[in-house]
Amino acid sequence: MRIGVFCSGGDAPGMNPCLRAVVRAAVAEGHDVVGIKRGYAGLLGEQFFLNTDGEPLMKLRSVSGLSRCGGTILHSSRSEEFRTQEGQKKAAAILRKHRIDAIVPIGGDGTFRGAVALCDHWDGQIVGCPGTIDNDLIGTDYTIGFATAVHTAVEALDKLRDTAESHERLFLVEVMGRHSGYIGLYTALAGGAEVAALPETPTDAAQIVHHLETLKARGKQSIMIVVAEGDEAGGASQLRDALTEAGCPFPTRVLKLGHLQRGGSPVPADRILATRLGDYAVRSLLDGSTDVMAGLIHGRLVLTPFKETFGQHKPVPEELMTLLDRMAR
Ligand code: F6P
Repeated sequence: MRIGVFCSGGDAPGMNPCLRAVVRAAVAEGHDVVGIKRGYAGLLGEQFFLNTDGEPLMKLRSVSGLSRCGGTILHSSRSEEFRTQEGQKKAAAILRKHRIDAIVPIGGDGTFRGAVALCDHWDGQIVGCPGTIDNDLIGTDYTIGFATAVHTAVEALDKLRDTAESHERLFLVEVMGRHSGYIGLYTALAGGAEVAALPETPTDAAQIVHHLETLKARGKQSIMIVVAEGDEAGGASQLRDALTEAGCPFPTRVLKLGHLQRGGSPVPADRILATRLGDYAVRSLLDGSTDVMAGLIHGRLVLTPFKETFGQHKPVPEELMTLLDRMAR
């Protein structure tokens, strides 16, 4: 088999170890791996990874040392052209031209929407790996990159807490996650934040101010509020304005973590998840599976049809929201 592999959409820490696993698993079974650069855009431009012999093939040594590397050596992108029918037909023709039998896309919901569209024009197999910091895909408990993104955000929160304590301030820390509160909730819980403003829950400035007054009366000297970028009240700056207007009892500062959360060496949990899913994706292709994403649910490797992975909003665990509330006293 000739297996194409690429990373698409926002990069995530763990994409590189996943790529390493795909290459090692496929080569171990005697198959060829073609690395496609820059996601769907690179496919349309026929941009392939060249090994040290100048061949468009990924060898065992092409992925050496990738366990610890953030980002993706194949590069990533979002492609406008691939969103069109013409783009999808062209991509299918390119895959046929290069005799690629199967692909492993590593990415998030946009990547898998693309895979579904490609299926209409191409009869090769597709098994994807969930590579996104957002953890917003159904079909896996955690996506590759989520644990590292949370780790990075929690480190930032810990540092900010020092300054918040010294100056008796409130920090609003905006985290990524587009439409999902996963990064926000986990960061808030692990970082001991007092409030999390998430897209899944209503954010009421007056209510938060009331809570802050109670906390201040109980002797709290610093406050951390984690704001998901997709919160319906807007980002951290908008919430700061609303809190100020509602009479916030602490001086406030805002920090937007942004793309900082997408980089860095993947934490062990992401490396292991990426390795398991990359290997499983290849084994699933060899078993004949297609149009599915490899995931890990309750410790078990599972396949989920692409359409189900992004068809519905993945709810944040209710129990963890209640726990955060109980801890924020
Ligand atoms: O999907 C990953 C993600 O980092 C989201 O959390 C964020 O909203 C988005 O990508 C940012 O995209 P870009 O890198 O194109 O600004």
